[in-house]
Amino acid sequence: MGTLEKEINRRRTFAIISHPDAGKTTLTEKFLLYGGAINLAGSVKGKATARHAVSDWMEIEKERGISVTSSVLQFEYDGFCINILDTPGHQDFSEDTYRTLMAADSAVMVIDASKGVEAQTRKLFKVCVMRKIPIFTFINKMDRDANDTFELLDEIEKELGIATCPVNWPIGSGKRFKGVYDRDEKCVITFSDTEKGTKEGETKVISIDDEEALISAIGEEAMGTLNDEIELLDGASAEFDLDLVQSGDLTPVFFGSALTNFGVEFFLQHFLEMTTTPLPRKSDAGLIAPAENDFSAFVFKIQANMNKAHRDRIAFMRICSGKYEASMEVKHVQGGKVMRLSQPQQIMASERKILEEAYAGDIIGVFDPGIFSIGDTLCMPKETIKYEGIPTFAPEHFARVRQMDTMKRKQFVKGITQIAQEGAIQIFQEFNTGMEEIIVGVVGVLQFDVLKYRLENEYNVEIRLEPLPYEHIRWIENKEEVDLNKLVGTSDMKKIKDLKGNPLLLFINAWSVGMTLDRNEGLVLSEFGRD
Ligand code: G4P
Repeated sequence: MGTLEKEINRRRTFAIISHPDAGKTTLTEKFLLYGGAINLAGSVKGKATARHAVSDWMEIEKERGISVTSSVLQFEYDGFCINILDTPGHQDFSEDTYRTLMAADSAVMVIDASKGVEAQTRKLFKVCVMRKIPIFTFINKMDRDANDTFELLDEIEKELGIATCPVNWPIGSGKRFKGVYDRDEKCVITFSDTEKGTKEGETKVISIDDEEALISAIGEEAMGTLNDEIELLDGASAEFDLDLVQSGDLTPVFFGSALTNFGVEFFLQHFLEMTTTPLPRKSDAGLIAPAENDFSAFVFKIQANMNKAHRDRIAFMRICSGKYEASMEVKHVQGGKVMRLSQPQQIMASERKILEEAYAGDIIGVFDPGIFSIGDTLCMPKETIKYEGIPTFAPEHFARVRQMDTMKRKQFVKGITQIAQEGAIQIFQEFNTGMEEIIVGVVGVLQFDVLKYRLENEYNVEIRLEPLPYEHIRWIENKEEVDLNKLVGTSDMKKIKDLKGNPLLLFINAWSVGMTLDRNEGLVLSEFGRD
């Protein structure tokens, strides 16, 4: 195997999806304890450092003390080169969070054992399902009182529609958490609280057949319950099947406690074995295999700089095939130009490191003088391939934009169109009129502030945003077959169109979506927009 192939095969690129507070940051930090050299792109928003993380992208970021940038982080473990993509939550949840999932080959879903499946996890999960990438579940906080294990699994299956296969099984929870049972090795790994565990605690591994040792380690009652549960589980749960895992139809489930560092390395080891090497990607020239092709990449995110003194932007790209070397010439397919990537770097928390080389599976950030758009392809100068575009994800907040000074119409249209092209917001128009009435849609409400701030600071245009009550947007998949004027909608439905003239429907209530589908035979609606 050549060096290129070896380097690519040892790469694992995944995103962590969870609802805020489930323990994503804590788990990531524990992963890093096991890793060697750490490259931080953006920052792990560790509580102590988050507010001071060096990131001059946006003043809003500083003002609010939150990280607007989704970050990428690279570390080495056991011969693997691991790229973790962070998917920010809270107010900084935005369309970028979804787009980040387009650059990942698998996802780790962290669930709080006492809360089960929560809203943000559900949203991010939908994107993973659309991409059919493998999903691994880590049920966290077992050192706290947890929901019934069978009920948790049932909830995942019913709410998310994916089969589950527990790899280990918890013995109690909270104060009575005794450890986990490793179903493959048929042994119990005992829990010991390490007080916020900077290291792994002292665990014992006891065979399930060693009754005496088990009774002394976990007690008779816990052992009895465990035996009953194992029997139930063996009869009821799905068999482990790696093909189903890799096609995203079955999620392996692990139990642990990130805070006390219990079950984290177990998870990491099993996850690395089960997840995939960098996946081939669809292009207009067919599937592009990572190791058999020269350099190619696509842009999945563009980060604008809010600081007026530096009007630069950073384009984040995922390398899909081959190797990137500093100063090599590449072709920007959509721009039709051969160029050298300017300052290729991994964006570090406190410094930006110029990259010498990177391989398929890696993420790089490059200086963008305003030429890249989301979804653009880069490849070798002699080639011309285009990767499949990145869909537009459903915004959940809408507002009508009112311009304060109508004399500045031109700047306003230019500014708002550019910001929309960068992918920070989506803009729509009334179905039957032009640009005079603009409706803006965002995934996270913070983007409204970003829009206002940028229009004022970069384009010198003041706006007022009037919130609209809509929460659900649907693209019409079969727009050629549907006569919009004859569509029978609900009273809370509004027809709009995007800048390309594609028709869309807005709804206030979720049930109206179903109602509209019922009333219009043959209508196909989608939560993702594709060109
Ligand atoms: P997030 O990135 O998903 O938002 O979650 P984060 O890791 O920041 O964790 C949220 C809170 O849950 C933190 O507590 C963290 O310490 C706690 N936590 C994470 N994993 C576990 C676990 O396995 N067991 C228990 N008991 N708690 C866990 P906090 O009080 O908000 O922050 P801190 O003051 O402890 O840093």
